[in-house]
Amino acid sequence: MCGIVGYVGNSAARDAKDIIIDGLKKLEYRGYDSAGIALNIDGELQIRKHVGRIANLENLIAGETLASRIGIGHTRWATHGAPSDVNSHPHCNSNETIAVVHNGIIENYVEIKEWLAKEYGITFKSETDTEVIAHLIGIYYDGDLQDAVYKAVEKMRGAYAIGVVAAAEPDKIVAVRKDAPLIAGLGEDCNFIASDIPALLKHVRKIYLIENNETVVIKSDSVKIYNAERKEIKRDVFHVTWDAESAEKEGYEHFMLKEIHEQPKGLYETLTRRIEEDGSIKLDGINLSKEDIENFDKVFIVACGTAYHAGLVGKFVIENLAKIPVEIDVASEFRYRDPFVNERTLFIAISQSGETLDTLAALREAKRKGARILSVVNVVGSSVARESDDVFYTWAGPEIAVASTKAYTTQLMCMYLIGLYMGRTRGILDEERYTNYLKELKEIPDKLKELLKKENEIHDLAKEIYKKEQVFFIGRGSDAGVSYEGSLKLKEISYINSFAIAAGELKHGTIALIEKDTLVIALATQEKLYEKMLSNIQEVKARGAYVIGIAKENNTEIEKQADRVIYIPNCIDEISPLLSVVPLQILAYYIARERGCDIDKPKNLAKSVTVE
Ligand code: F6R
Repeated sequence: MCGIVGYVGNSAARDAKDIIIDGLKKLEYRGYDSAGIALNIDGELQIRKHVGRIANLENLIAGETLASRIGIGHTRWATHGAPSDVNSHPHCNSNETIAVVHNGIIENYVEIKEWLAKEYGITFKSETDTEVIAHLIGIYYDGDLQDAVYKAVEKMRGAYAIGVVAAAEPDKIVAVRKDAPLIAGLGEDCNFIASDIPALLKHVRKIYLIENNETVVIKSDSVKIYNAERKEIKRDVFHVTWDAESAEKEGYEHFMLKEIHEQPKGLYETLTRRIEEDGSIKLDGINLSKEDIENFDKVFIVACGTAYHAGLVGKFVIENLAKIPVEIDVASEFRYRDPFVNERTLFIAISQSGETLDTLAALREAKRKGARILSVVNVVGSSVARESDDVFYTWAGPEIAVASTKAYTTQLMCMYLIGLYMGRTRGILDEERYTNYLKELKEIPDKLKELLKKENEIHDLAKEIYKKEQVFFIGRGSDAGVSYEGSLKLKEISYINSFAIAAGELKHGTIALIEKDTLVIALATQEKLYEKMLSNIQEVKARGAYVIGIAKENNTEIEKQADRVIYIPNCIDEISPLLSVVPLQILAYYIARERGCDIDKPKNLAKSVTVE
């Protein structure tokens, strides 16, 4: 993954180092195991890098002036080579006249490395794939950085966004994009490159979104974009309308807690922007005609992680409302198994970031096979959005915490809206059911506000159970889908070994692990499966489990079985995932907090996964 930032300005009043480091902090969600910077100072490249967070890099350079008007910086999520000072970016050629920052993977780097060693006697300092890029550019460089970058790129296979500076050309940064995000920011007497918009928001609102196989050359007074044929091309300016403050913590201890509390607003926005005055749904950004919808014989939902879990519920919803078969797969599996997809398939990609490489690759595979591509995405202008036929945005606002919360619930809301729209268009849903469903959805933001008032109660519960080293989540129907999400939330931020399973499946093996005091979190929000769930709870109780139940307020029978119960407001079964996931998010948050974990930046993870 990784985040890159580059800056070129013409005023001594603006310090490249400060601007780049500030930008990198906004990209730490992309990776945070080491950071570095390359500055051109009087025709020499000054490289500083350090393992660990950006704060470590700041400490390293604290006593130095390092005044400069041009530089590139990097925050890393290690792929090739462990996090260490030497593996941190920027990487240089042998005489340190070229420096490179890179996000992505160079798939043929071993081949290039061997060639460089054999033909040019180059020795390598790091274990990274990135270092070969710097050496490649170095051997091609004869005073024209852009040309040397072109020649190097011709040799490289893989996914990358790179930013390059040369000691002898202190006025420019050359950057290239292939399958990894890259933007250019247009400032006053200064210009920027970055992996993502938040890095630049303090300085610019005007952005160029760089496309695949394009090269961008930034100087203090110009930004020029070139296509793969090296021809300069024009690009429309993308105006950013959201502000930097919406990506700040606003008094919450962690972004995750803030984002949990933003869910009523995100859900309200995602829903109400799509409801017309007459009560009909308008899927803005989706141009599916009645004929298109009637022609589909299958829906395929593909995503990763939390977005995949939203898809699990989406399958229930769309099959139930639109009576069309829905297949679902994780993106990394979909693309390699020759899935049965054709022109009559509606392919739905779900992605918060819109940059997840596995999801993007799956989307391209489905497109190649003729499917219609609809994406449910949070980040406007992201790669997934741009490569889709139709885009349905979640209105969650920027999500910063690595653990996804508000993106998940707004993705669910999109699933309901798509299901309702398709069901209505296909003539499956009658007026009464449609109107009642919509009424229930409209009540969700307020019900969620009520539910969030249970934060202290859930915090107290977390204090009782935070030392557990193993947790099982069980549920039936759409509760099973929510169990997977609850389990992922807990494990990724608290490092507790948690496992989710469909409750009826437990007795087919996994129940062997249930013993005295094993913590089981049992979701029982589905009326028609309620009694079955109570039986499943009894099964684990009989083996000594400590059970926390999640149920609707009017289903109090569960108190006889479970040790503790968290109630969610009443609603129709179909939409309970919008509520039932929230106590699980809060519980995961407070358990991780009690365990002293770094909640917004869990170990080994990054917010945007742009590697395979
Ligand atoms: C978990 C989490 C990840 C992401 C996954 C897909 O909390 O955030 O599992 O859901 O990496 O990311 P997007 O949605 O950006 O494609």
